[in-house]
Amino acid sequence: MRVVIQDNYDKMSKWAANYIAAKINGHKENRPFVLGLPTGSSPIGVYKELIKMNKEGKVSFENVVTFNMDEYLGLPREHDQSYWYFMHDNFFDHIKIPAANVNILNGMTDDPEGECERYEKKIASYGGIDLFMGGIGVDGHLAFNEPYTSLSSRTGVRNLTTDTRIVNSRFFGNDPEKVPAQALSVGIGTVTDSKEVLVLISGHNKARALAATVEGGVSQKWTCSALQLHNGAIIACDEAACGELTVDTYKYFLDIEKNERL
Ligand code: GLP
Repeated sequence: MRVVIQDNYDKMSKWAANYIAAKINGHKENRPFVLGLPTGSSPIGVYKELIKMNKEGKVSFENVVTFNMDEYLGLPREHDQSYWYFMHDNFFDHIKIPAANVNILNGMTDDPEGECERYEKKIASYGGIDLFMGGIGVDGHLAFNEPYTSLSSRTGVRNLTTDTRIVNSRFFGNDPEKVPAQALSVGIGTVTDSKEVLVLISGHNKARALAATVEGGVSQKWTCSALQLHNGAIIACDEAACGELTVDTYKYFLDIEKNERL
């Protein structure tokens, strides 16, 4: 696992955007580059940077197919807290990408299991995901895979914990009851099947989760810890998120990464 420590959120975002753009630009296969994407506050800086690069002609999304991580169950697309809305508002509306290349789980489906099965099949039809970018919750959840979700889980329906509904209630008038109780989410196995996984971890409130992801044992209690078994996992983080790492771990990653450009 690589842990790339940047001074602050902006630098972390720029590093991650440059990394993603380099991967897309370096993709020479005769099939689209398949990119997994998250919502939340963590990736907003990356999206801003990728939009800028797209407008400057530094990266093209014409041959990129995207799959989003998750979606609330029961929220229509037009709801300003649906992840469909978030992704269009923060990214897709500002880049040139064919609409048919964008995949987001349908939270209004009347067949949630079927919707999830189709999603997995569609990912497989492209030959899998090349790079999955993610964020994590304060309890270490990756997508909506809450603590104790199987580390080999596939796309499916997830019940959200009270903690997550409280944390996410900041977007729902601070009322946890207004946060949907369920979501559709890719599984941990879906994410770790990707060739590369890039997870953004920023801020003091994620410090415990970062330490559990990097230094803790592999455990379904911290679903993000599954990344330790992945051969192409990168954590991009900021200084603030490093507060719970041991000094040795912190120094090790600064040392080992000091000559890496990307
Ligand atoms: C939600 C999403 C996750 C995201 C997490 C953290 O629960 N389902 O995919 O990683 O929030 O969000 P933030 O980046 O805003 O801290």
